[in-house]
Amino acid sequence: MRETEWVPSGIDTWTPNGARIYDYMLGGHDNYPADRAAADRMLQSNPAAPRTAMANRDFLGRVVSHLAGEVGITQFLDVGSGLPTQRNVHEVAQESNRDARIVYVDRDPTVIRHSQALLERHGVRNAIAFEGDLRSPGRILTHPNITGFLDFNRPVAVLLVAILHFVSDEEDAHGIVRRLASVLVPGSHLVISHTTDESPPDVMEAAQQGFRLAGSPLTPRSRAGISRFFTGFDLLEPGLVDVRDWRPALRTDQAWPSGWTIAGGVGARP
Ligand SMILES: C[S@@+](CC[C@H](N)C(=O)[O-])C[C@H]1O[C@@H](n2cnc3c(N)ncnc32)[C@H](O)[C@@H]1O
Repeated sequence: MRETEWVPSGIDTWTPNGARIYDYMLGGHDNYPADRAAADRMLQSNPAAPRTAMANRDFLGRVVSHLAGEVGITQFLDVGSGLPTQRNVHEVAQESNRDARIVYVDRDPTVIRHSQALLERHGVRNAIAFEGDLRSPGRILTHPNITGFLDFNRPVAVLLVAILHFVSDEEDAHGIVRRLASVLVPGSHLVISHTTDESPPDVMEAAQQGFRLAGSPLTPRSRAGISRFFTGFDLLEPGLVDVRDWRPALRTDQAWPSGWTIAGGVGARP
């Protein structure tokens, strides 16, 4: 957002913020000088970071399109949904099925206010947004907004896209995913993208420093550690891969600069 535009009351624009850094990398306008300065520091060591952020966002779009279209999923729980941008989950899912229901959850009040404003402005049916923290999965699952909105007796796709790397092992990231997965009936899906530990050290150091200052310390994980989140799910083809390689719409031979690697995958509950 440009400074002349709406700033939700009570929002601290002086401290860098993880959701707004990501928004800046995606070319969005819901960010402030502190966010841009933090992002620019990351870009110095990794000028390709915006492309990685966009590749992650494109992965999300392709996955939701596949789940809502080919698989026929009608319910989505998107935790760590981020600031509304292009091709939001409800837009993609409702292209395939206008009755698809989407719940956006994010711990950042700015994200939720912007999401609610967008849904209201466009008169979107069947999508809601509320504040919640992934680290308290029980509270999300029993939140009155959810229990009246999603039917967990039917398949639900849980989207944890570029969020689990903000949850440390001490905070029991794997236990949190197990808790969310415990309510999913067969036919449900789990979607994860996650920063891997394969990126060059200077790139990771800059990203970790930037996100630490933004109050969201980053925990890159190995592919084995990320795969473990899918315990109890069957990974769809092509498995856990660089997000660019998950069923790409267009095959490109263009060389991709090495840098920040995000792996993504989709698991189906058998
Ligand atoms: C990088 S953005 C990803 C947005 C979107 N999922 C995507 O991939 O395009 C990460 C989002 O996760 C949110 N987030 C980080 N930690 C969280 C937590 N513990 N609970 C809920 N949301 C969280 C941030 O506020 C931010 O909006």
